Amino acid sequence: MNLGALTFFLALISGASGHYYDYDYYLAYPAFLRSSPNCAPECDCPESYPTAMYCDELKLKSVPMIPPGIKYLYLRNNQIDHIDEKAFENVTDLQWLILDHNLLENSKIKGKVFSKLKQLKRLHINYNNLTESVGPLPKSLQDLQLTNNKITKLGSFDGLVNLTFVHLQHNQLKEETISAALKGLKSLEYLDLSFNQLSKLPSDLPMSLLTLYLDNNQIKNIPDAYFKRFGVLQYLRLSHNELADSGIPGDTFNISSLLELDLSYNKLKSIPTVSENLENYYLEVNQLEKFDVKSFCKILGPLSYSKIKHLRLDGNRLTQSSLPHDMYECLRVLSEITVN
Ligand SMILES: *[C@@H]1O[C@H](CO)[C@@H](O)[C@H](O)[C@H]1NC(C)=O
Ligand SMILES: *[C@@H]1O[C@H](CO)[C@@H](O)[C@H](O)[C@H]1NC(C)=O
Ligand SMILES: *[C@@H]1O[C@H](CO)[C@@H](O)[C@H](O)[C@H]1NC(C)=O
Ligand SMILES: *[C@@H]1O[C@H](CO)[C@@H](O)[C@H](O)[C@H]1NC(C)=O
Repeated sequence: MNLGALTFFLALISGASGHYYDYDYYLAYPAFLRSSPNCAPECDCPESYPTAMYCDELKLKSVPMIPPGIKYLYLRNNQIDHIDEKAFENVTDLQWLILDHNLLENSKIKGKVFSKLKQLKRLHINYNNLTESVGPLPKSLQDLQLTNNKITKLGSFDGLVNLTFVHLQHNQLKEETISAALKGLKSLEYLDLSFNQLSKLPSDLPMSLLTLYLDNNQIKNIPDAYFKRFGVLQYLRLSHNELADSGIPGDTFNISSLLELDLSYNKLKSIPTVSENLENYYLEVNQLEKFDVKSFCKILGPLSYSKIKHLRLDGNRLTQSSLPHDMYECLRVLSEITVN
C-alpha cells in the first residue's frame, strides 16, 4: 500500500463516528490495522471498534465462539442452520445480532436464546428459512427484520414496548395472524408488510405508525374509516393491489397527517379524495378516466389549496387536454405532473 492510499484510509478511520461500523467502510479498511487478541480466529474484530465482530461470508455452519465485550455481531452470508441455547452465553449484553443470508429454521433455534439478551436492540434474520417469527424476544428490542423468509405465522410480540421498526416484507403472511401479533406495540412507527398474501387490511394495527407499506398484496377493499385512528401516519403504500372505486369508502384517504400516498397499479377509475396536506400522490397504471379537482380541494380560498408537489397519472386513460383548466387554482404548488 502506498502512502497516499494509507492517508486515505486513515482519513476514513478518523472520519468515522459513533458506534455504527459501516460495512462499506469496513471493506475499505486495511487488514494490517485489524486485529484483536480475543477475537474468534476466523472472524475480524477491528481494533478501533473493539465491540464489533465481523464473521461474514465464512461458510460457517454454526455460531462461532464470541469473546465477552462484543456488542455488535455480524454473521451474514454463511450456512448457519442452527443456534444452540448457549450460543450467546458469554455476550448477554449483545446489542446488534445480524444473521442475514443463512439457513435458519425455527425448529433449530433452541430455547430462549434471544430473550436472554437483555440489551438487544437490533435483530436481523433476513433471507433465511423461517416459517414463523422467532421468539420470545427481549423487551429492549427496537428493530426486527425477518424479510425474505417463508413466514406464515407471527408469534406474540407482547411487551415489546420499544419495538419501533418491523420489516416483514417478502413472506407468506395473511391478515389474521398479523392483527393479533402487532396490536400491543405502542412504539411501532415503521411496518413493512409488502409482498405478502394479504387480501384484507389487518385490524388493530398500532396507532403510532408513521410509515405503513402494504404494497404487492391482494387487497380489494378498505373498511369504512379504517385510517381515521392513525393520527400521525405520513407514508402509505398500497400499490400493486386489487383496489377498485367500490372498495374505497369516500373519505378513506382524507388523512390530514399523510404526506405520501401510493395507489399505483390498482383498478381505480376515479381519483380518491385526499387531504390538502398530501405532497406526493402516485396513481400511475390504474383506469382513471376523469380528473376531478374536488378530489384535492373541496373549496378554494386564499388559504385553502392542495400542497401536492408530485402527481403521477401516467398509464391511465387521461390525456393532458382532458385535465381541467382550473386545476392549478387548487394545485398551486405542483412542481411535477406526469400524464402518459
Ligand atoms: C464462554 O466462555 C467460557 C469460558 O471462557 C468458555 O469455556 C465457553 O466455551 C464460552 N461459550 C461460548 C458459547 O462461546
Ligand atoms: C427450507 O425449509 C423447507 C421446509 O421446512 C425445506 O424443505 C427446505 O429444504 C429448506 N431449505 C433449506 C435451504 O434449508
Ligand atoms: C425503552 O427505551 C427507553 C428510552 O430509550 C429506555 O429508557 C427503556 O429502558 C427501554 N425499555 C426497555 C424495556 O428496554
Ligand atoms: C377532508 O376532511 C376534512 C375534515 O376532516 C374536510 O374539512 C375537508 O374538506 C376534506 N377534504 C376533502 C378534499 O374532501
